[in-house]
This record gives sequence, structure tokens and C-alpha cells, in this order.
Amino acid sequence: MSNESVQLIYPSDEIVKNAAVSGMDAYRALCAEAEADYEGFWARHARELVTWKQPFTQVLDESNAPFFKWFADGKLNVSYNCLDRNVEAGLGDKVAIIFEADNGDVTKVTYKELLVKVCKMANLLRSKGVKKGDRVVIYLPMTIEGVVAMQACARVGAIHSIVFGGFSAQSLRDRMHDAGAVMLITSDGQFRGGKAIPLKPIADEAFGMGGCECVKNVIVFKRTGADVNMVAGRDEWLHDALANQPETCEPEWVEAEHPLFLLYTSGSTGKPKGVQHSTGGYLLHAILTMKYTFDIKPEDTFWCTADIGWVTGHTYITYGPLACGATEIVFEGVPTYPDAGRFWKVIQDHKVNIFYTAPTAIRSLIKAADNNPAIHPKAYDLSSLRILGSVGEPINPAAWQWYYDNVGGGRCPIVDTFWQTETGGHMITPLPGATPLVPGSCTLPFPGIQAAIVDETGADVPWGQGGILVVKRPWPSMIRTIWGDDERFVKSYYPADFQGKYYLAGDGAIRDKDTGYFTITGRIDDVLNVSGHRMGTMEIESALVANPLVAEAAVVGRPDDLTGEAIVAFVVLKGQRPTGDDAKRIIKELSDWVGKEIGPIAKPKDIRFGDNLPKTRSGKIMRRLLRGLAKGEELTQDTSTLENPAILEQLKG
Ligand code: PRX
Repeated sequence: MSNESVQLIYPSDEIVKNAAVSGMDAYRALCAEAEADYEGFWARHARELVTWKQPFTQVLDESNAPFFKWFADGKLNVSYNCLDRNVEAGLGDKVAIIFEADNGDVTKVTYKELLVKVCKMANLLRSKGVKKGDRVVIYLPMTIEGVVAMQACARVGAIHSIVFGGFSAQSLRDRMHDAGAVMLITSDGQFRGGKAIPLKPIADEAFGMGGCECVKNVIVFKRTGADVNMVAGRDEWLHDALANQPETCEPEWVEAEHPLFLLYTSGSTGKPKGVQHSTGGYLLHAILTMKYTFDIKPEDTFWCTADIGWVTGHTYITYGPLACGATEIVFEGVPTYPDAGRFWKVIQDHKVNIFYTAPTAIRSLIKAADNNPAIHPKAYDLSSLRILGSVGEPINPAAWQWYYDNVGGGRCPIVDTFWQTETGGHMITPLPGATPLVPGSCTLPFPGIQAAIVDETGADVPWGQGGILVVKRPWPSMIRTIWGDDERFVKSYYPADFQGKYYLAGDGAIRDKDTGYFTITGRIDDVLNVSGHRMGTMEIESALVANPLVAEAAVVGRPDDLTGEAIVAFVVLKGQRPTGDDAKRIIKELSDWVGKEIGPIAKPKDIRFGDNLPKTRSGKIMRRLLRGLAKGEELTQDTSTLENPAILEQLKG
């Protein structure tokens, strides 16, 4: 971007005037405050925004870097911060959650009611022997119960680990096993797009695979009413288990560093990693970003469309909005049911003020709206909207502009928030009443976040030149370790390349040479981003080679207009290379196989067969070449080092 091509889009005076961070000078002042006294900056916010049972006296402890500690001698409880303190502040009768079910049914829960629900669930956990530090896996759809289960774990100091409801039995099994979970909370099924989809049978299958004997109790929420198999002595219906639980429950006051949750995410090797988050630092950033990035006000209705199975659903559904005493939407359905106007109807019906979604959803809704004016956002009253957000993947400028013009009516700033499962909350993002916007750029670091772009040696690269995105100083909501694998934590995020000093995000980025604005250029490791969902290429490859037909597989990404990236798999079968109908049948079989091994989101969009994969003479798979083939590019690379150039023709697709 050069200055001539950069069109800065400014927030209205009205938005600036009322914003928590009002104008660029206010943003710069916060950055300067953090620069001058880094610990003081975070400590001030931690004292102002979090309620501590025992105030902290230590701020950042770097003595065992990169295992950083924040506010280590402070004690608190996240559920107290999200519920009790709002009730105590007089918000008991305020609606905390507006739940809109797949079929359109609406249920409202006040803060007082939510507190009772969480206390009963917390008492249930305790009655089953769940105690501080125990792991509880939650495999639930988007429901009030999902939020309640997470909050209840936080209340008793148990560490929750959510497994997204679209993940397979194998994925669920691996996560329960790795976490050493003592309890599973699941449901009979879930509703999506008018269909009832089973969940408990998948959990049964996961248990059948073995290795989950650590799980002593399975609590089953009745959602769809489907017939399910209940194992005597282990499985119990949630409504039965809750029946006689008391309505109050003393929170477990935990140290700030006590793990609040694990969330498994894909890395560049086969096995998903259990990202471990803290209590105090995580909560602080959840609240702070709600205030500064979303400019949340007491009267606002906030809607984040993510699933609680992803980190966005943790920070911006279960914790952030509730800790701020906001009213939020919890939405069970899908954006296209009963039609692709659903999002706009929900915004209209509930007068949503702040709307946070993913670029993939926007792109699919643009297509739908173009084909049918009746479900175009302009056909709805979206005047309640004040701020829009985007997350999970780069938003292309055309989608940004459509979102800005048609959903935001040209008056709502879009906060394009860059962050990761590991970062706990926003890292690089506009602040709506301060930062002039550029479509496709996540603009500038959140105050206090020392994001930078460096080369392989760790030296800063000049603006205008691409490089590796790092964070130079630890921040409160950062990942603490990978569950059970400190070594992998250090190797993945604090590699020796940067003398172990910088957090490595795993993304490439570039700063505009004039504005210094950041644009994320994509992952620099073997991680793909499909519809904002993170997938490791090795994870998909392992799933493919686990199929008895497959000898070898290589997976790469290719740009896709709708899903951002699409998965392309190059496969060598043990038998002959199939063609015609045979090939079609095996493609379907392998695709379903990956769906069963990992989950439907991991199914390759394109599977191609070769007698072999392109390899160097030393046997290394030439992935760069495969990426070119996947995109359908003419091969201009030198293929003379290829052991078997003839197979390129087969793999062209
Ligand atoms: O590549 C970046 C992309 O998503 C990755 C993180 O994925 P995950 O841990 O699943 O968390 C997603 C939700 C926070 C990043 O490494 N990413 C996320 N947000 C953006 C983004 N890429 C560009 N722009 C964004 N706003």
C-alpha cells in the first residue's frame, strides 16, 4: 500500500466522542503509558477491571522465562467476576443471555438466574468429586448449558477443555485422554439448520476406542430428545443430577496463575496441542478488550457468532461480555437457516449493537444476498448496530467494504481483530473510536502489546518489508504452556532462532510503509486456515495414511474465494493409481474417512492421486511444488532435482 492508494476511513465524531479510547491521541497515550512502565500499565488495568479476593503485589515474574507469571500472589474467581459481582452491583435482573435456538425459540436469562444455574452446576461438579485442578471435557452444542458448564468449572477451580461439537469420536477421545479428564459433559444431540445431529453416540464411540478410563462421570444434557445409550454408574442425565443441588455455591478462590482452561488447537505437527490459559491474566485481557476494542457500554447488546468450541467463543461469549455485565446473544443456529438472512434478522429482532463474526460467514452471505434481495441486509432494520468486528482469518477488502456498507450502513467501524488461541484475546486491532481504518488491515497493536515484524535472526525489518510476526514482551493473557508438554511449548513459541526472547505467532506480516499498519500475510508454518478454522496439514496427512488404502499423502492449502483456504490432498495408494469411477469412489471414501477421523471441517476439497509424490533425491516431499500444482499454476520451478518428474502430470488435477 502506498500513500496514494491508502484510503483511511475515519470513525464519526459521535463514535469518537463516546468511545472508551477516544481519538488517536488517547490510543497513543495508552501505548506510551505501557512503554514507560510496562508492569504499571497492566497492574493499573488489573486493579481497575478485575475484582480480587486477595490483591496481588507482584505483577510480571520473568524469572523462569518463557514460563511467565502474572499477578502470581493474587487470588480471584472468574465466575465470581462474571456473575456475583454484577448481581452485587444491582444488575441481577438485567438480561445476561438472550438464547436464540436453531428453530427461532428465544430464552432470556438474567444475571441472577444465570448465577443460580452456575451454582447448581458447580455443586453438581463438587458432588461428583470434581475439585480444583481436575479436567472436565465439555462436548456440547451452542446452548445456555454450554456457557453454564464452563462457568461452573471456573467456579470450582476445575479446568475445562471444550471439544467443538463438529469434531469426531477420535478427536474427542484424544483430547479426553491427553487432558486426563475426570468428567465429560455432553448432550444427546444438537440442532443445526433444522436437523437433529447426534452427539452422545459419538462420545460412546470415543469411549469404545479405549484410553479414557480416567473419565468417571458422563453428564448428558437433553437437547434433542433422541434415544441414547446410558452406561449405568457412569452416565447421568443433567436434569436428574441437578435436581437437588443447592442454589448457592461458594467459589473456589484460586491463584491468578491457576489454569482456567485448556483448548486444543492444531500445530505444525500431527498432534493437536492443549493450549493452557491462566485465570487472572486471561480474565483481565477479556475485559480490557471488551472495553477498548468493542467499546462495550452497559446498555449494549453484544453478539459474537463464534461457537464455544473455539477460543473466540471462550473470550467473547463465556467470559468477556459477562464479566462486563453486558447482554449478549447466544445463537445455536447457522447463518443460512431458515435462510441466509438469519444473521440480519437476529440483529434486527434483538437490536444488537456490536456484532462480531468471521470473514467466511460474510463472504457466503454476500453471495446469498446477491442472489436474493429479500435476504439482503438492506431488507432489515440494522440501525441498532454501532460496531462491527471480524476475526479468524484475513478479511479481503471487497468483503470488508460490503460488510461496512451493507451491514454497518457506512457508519459502523469494523474492528478486524488479529489474535490466536494462544494469545487469549485481541493482539492487533483497530480501536473503534480511535483508529482510522484500512480495509484488509488489522491496523495497530492493542495498547501494551509489543507486536513487531522481524527477519529470521530476530532483527526488525523496515516498514514495507514482509517478515515474521513476533511479540517482544510477555502479556497477561498469553498461553502458559502446552498441557503436559513444556518442551513443545518452548520449541513452538520461544524458538532458539530468536534466542528464546520473542513469542513466535506463526504468521507472516507486513507493515504499510506509510501508516505502519499491519497486514497479516498468512501462516508461515504447516497450518491451514479453512473458514477461520485452524487445521494442521500433518494432522490431515496422518488421518489419510491411517486409511488401509493409503500408502502416502501430502496436504497443502490453496486460496479459496469462499473459505479463505481450501485443503488439497495428494495421495499415493498402496494399490494402483485409480482413474474414472474408481477414483471418484475412493475420493469419497477418503474424504468421509478424514471426516470421521478429525471432523467434517477437515475434509479435503480436492484429492488427487499419483504413483508417487514429487520428492528430491534425498526423499524430501517438495511441498512448494505441490502448492503450485494445487493452485493450478504453470510450473516454472527447477524440477531437475526431482527424483520422478513424470508424476507431476498425474498430480495436475
Ligand atoms: O493465521 C492467523 C489467523 O488465525 C490464526 C489463529 O487461529 P486460531 O488460534 O484458531 O484463532 C482464531 C480466532 C482468534 C492466526 O495465527 N487469524 C486470526 N485472526 C486474524 C487472522 N488472520 C488475519 N486477520 C485476522 N484478523
